[in-house]
Amino acid sequence: MSNELKRGLEGVLVAESELSHVDGEVGKLVYRGYDIEELARGASYEEVLYLLWHGSLPTRAELDDLREHLAVERSVDDEVLSTVRTLADAGDQPMAALRTAVSMLSAYDGDAESEGVLAEGARITAKMPTILAAFERARQGEATVDPDPDLSHAGNFLYMLTGTEPDAVSEETFDMALTLHADHGLNASTFTALVIGSTLADVYSCVTGGIGALSGSLHGGANQDVMEMLHEIDDSDKEPVEWVKDARENDRRIPGFGHRVYKVKDPRARILEGKLRDLADSSGDRKWLEYTTAIESHLADEGLVEKGIAPNVDFYSGSVYDAMGIPMDLYTPIFAMSRVGGWIAHVREYQEDNRLIRPRARYTGPETADFVSIDER
Ligand code: ACO
Repeated sequence: MSNELKRGLEGVLVAESELSHVDGEVGKLVYRGYDIEELARGASYEEVLYLLWHGSLPTRAELDDLREHLAVERSVDDEVLSTVRTLADAGDQPMAALRTAVSMLSAYDGDAESEGVLAEGARITAKMPTILAAFERARQGEATVDPDPDLSHAGNFLYMLTGTEPDAVSEETFDMALTLHADHGLNASTFTALVIGSTLADVYSCVTGGIGALSGSLHGGANQDVMEMLHEIDDSDKEPVEWVKDARENDRRIPGFGHRVYKVKDPRARILEGKLRDLADSSGDRKWLEYTTAIESHLADEGLVEKGIAPNVDFYSGSVYDAMGIPMDLYTPIFAMSRVGGWIAHVREYQEDNRLIRPRARYTGPETADFVSIDER
């Protein structure tokens, strides 16, 4: 047995997967062989869910079935929604409220143990946008908007969030963002879900754990951090490049840069940058585009990008959501709303040939210690 220690499990293979592949050297991402750029351009999030969950792109009839199924599952029990509203009133963070609500869903799922990962997973996937939109509405003092069975997954979320049917550009943009975030190999949150699934715990536990792992600033939380950075720059009297130089001198990490696997610009960042450019062209508001591109080219000039610390998906996603009027602290829960598709697909795939995931730590504590009872310490 090897005693080599791999900090952060870097480069360690723990499973085989047919779901997605990240080629970090050239900046390529595929879901079951399909290039992410083609999927982002040509497939809806529901088609991507079908691809991840069932192994192939759906026919029209298969897609209709999935859409109908999600429409039926979108409504959320009143008890859960009431808790969501209580959490909003108490000032809880949306990511924490989403985690609590997903965990709570299992209490209202009659067949939680018997239906299998995909059926329960589809149910959770359908309900997460409803929960998140209800949280935001409650926080704004607005009534919950019921899902509309005729709208897509992306369209429904925007509708439940604002109470108005989204225009085609917003729906398409949001749908593309969901597609881009749906899966990404064994990233930290997917691995968390997999570890939980490997114990044969239920899917609610897997997704709840995934949300927890995604919330951190080294992972999904970085999209909010990027937008906070952009606002910090805007509120300061500095130009973006000057601000970033100071931040680097003070050893601050630049959120949205760097990735464990990508050594070049993340393909998802490339696509989102293009989308941000389109949105800026049509609205005329170019501020965040100018800030982000100035930061990126400065860090490239500094040699950071050459060292493999390049923009990741989070660098541009926040600015796209901001252009759509979505509040900053919903960015990471939106990421979860999409990545849940990948978590479920991976748990299902892994459980087909399940083995408990149980690594070891190299023990560095004392060899022996003399026990002294509490009264004598
Ligand atoms: N800004 C400045 N320097 C950085 C950054 C950054 N964003 N990221 C990494 N580095 C530097 C580190 O300081 C370190 O330098 P050193 O070797 O001189 O000490 C070197 O790059 C390697 O960094 P590690 O943290 O060891 O790399 P790791 O692979 O563990 O981390 C991570 C990857 C966590 C994503 C890191 O790049 C980071 O903190 N980025 C900022 C947060 C972020 O954007 N997270 C989102 C990732 S994408 C996603 O999860 C959806």
